[in-house]
Amino acid sequence: MKITVVGGGYVGLTTGVCFAHLGHQVLIVEKIPQKVELLKSGKSPIYEPGLEELMQKNMKEGRLFFTTDLREGLEFSDVIFICVGTPQRPDGSADLSQVEEVARETAKLMKSYKLLIEKSTVPVNTHKLIKKTVQRYLKDPSIPYDVASNPEFLREGSAIEDFLNPDRIVVGIESERAKSIFEELYKDFKCPIIYTDPATSELIKHASNSFLAMKISFINMVADLCEKVGADVKLVADGMGYDKRIGRHFLNAGIGYGGSCFPKDVKAFIKMAEDYGLNFGILREVERINQERPVKFVEKVKNILWSVKEKKIGVWGLAFKPNTDDIREAPSIKIVDLLIKEGAYLSLYDPKAMENFKMLFPEGKQVKYAKDPYIAAEGASALLILTEWDEFMKVDLKRVKELMELPILVDGRNIFEPKEVKSLGFEYYAIGR
Ligand code: UDX
Repeated sequence: MKITVVGGGYVGLTTGVCFAHLGHQVLIVEKIPQKVELLKSGKSPIYEPGLEELMQKNMKEGRLFFTTDLREGLEFSDVIFICVGTPQRPDGSADLSQVEEVARETAKLMKSYKLLIEKSTVPVNTHKLIKKTVQRYLKDPSIPYDVASNPEFLREGSAIEDFLNPDRIVVGIESERAKSIFEELYKDFKCPIIYTDPATSELIKHASNSFLAMKISFINMVADLCEKVGADVKLVADGMGYDKRIGRHFLNAGIGYGGSCFPKDVKAFIKMAEDYGLNFGILREVERINQERPVKFVEKVKNILWSVKEKKIGVWGLAFKPNTDDIREAPSIKIVDLLIKEGAYLSLYDPKAMENFKMLFPEGKQVKYAKDPYIAAEGASALLILTEWDEFMKVDLKRVKELMELPILVDGRNIFEPKEVKSLGFEYYAIGR
């Protein structure tokens, strides 16, 4: 099939590259010319494992193209995936101006049937606004079109795998014509495909992300309780997780969730409910607990060291999760900021996210960037783990201990086994164990 993807960001690029990988012809429309130039030269503007290689392969094999021109995109195909950004407004609601723009410009340019598919995360009933906009701007009102919702559930760091092997595919449609296009598009996928109305589909996405965020805040509270009573949150999560109704996934306690989705989506879901006269109080609490996590973590570090002022502290991990260079809403930002305010001297290391972090925290008296995890640990009074990169699990801890001034490890992601690190002579503090 021929597919047009509007928006060359995280979602759009992964969607386009993966559809091309499945044998379709894909044209990605991205309005920033520099980004299109970069993409055309075979470079991915984001770090995502395997993405650049797959992109280059499909370009070489003639299935993946890029343009800045929406008109070209509409001439190319009848199937238009809208993958533009839906950033957060100050009140927590989603800014849909880019979605509106795509709907409006498409309507003005289209000459024959188009299927417009929302893939970006949007508030419930956005499909109605898209339809209204298309109707308004359509040059010839007899041109048929459909609007559908087909939310993506991919995670950064495993986006390709998530796209190609999803747990489920959700499709919200209103016509048989649209349904048959999706049946063709997803015919090689073995997972359940849920066909429903667009409003239900839009809600499935927000409800799923909010539920996952709720699991994380829940286990983080359980972790705090574990610390008070001397229980082990990892084992509590294991014990809960064997119950199939609960499941073990997303029950890893830590310094809180970050990223471009959960914080924004939880806020948007609360706001959406509020707009319909409902108080989604449980999610307000999820958010409050999450915002408290970095503050509590810094309190913990301060309690351990008594004072952090003018002490050297090593930090391993800045990205909001492993396998990405993304630091959006990363708990590390708040933690680093608070430690700087407390007068600490930080030596930061992350395998991929340092360049992005430097834009927020340039190198200076209190902030240094280390070339590797060992250099970050050198002379430190404590070492903090903020992202669970594989690299950290493989380090030579004996060497790390020798390099540090005091062998104190504060593990915000529970990557080590307390007994093992303690047997090496570390003073080890984890979350909830
Ligand atoms: C999320 C959803 O998982 C995905 O389905 C959706 O499409 C986009 O949002 P992503 O933001 O890439 O994906 O990362 P995810 O792996 O879900 O992690 C989000 C945050 O939660 C990270 O900061 C992670 O560290 C944290 N997390 C996750 C925990 O603290 N504990 C867990 O058990 C799981």
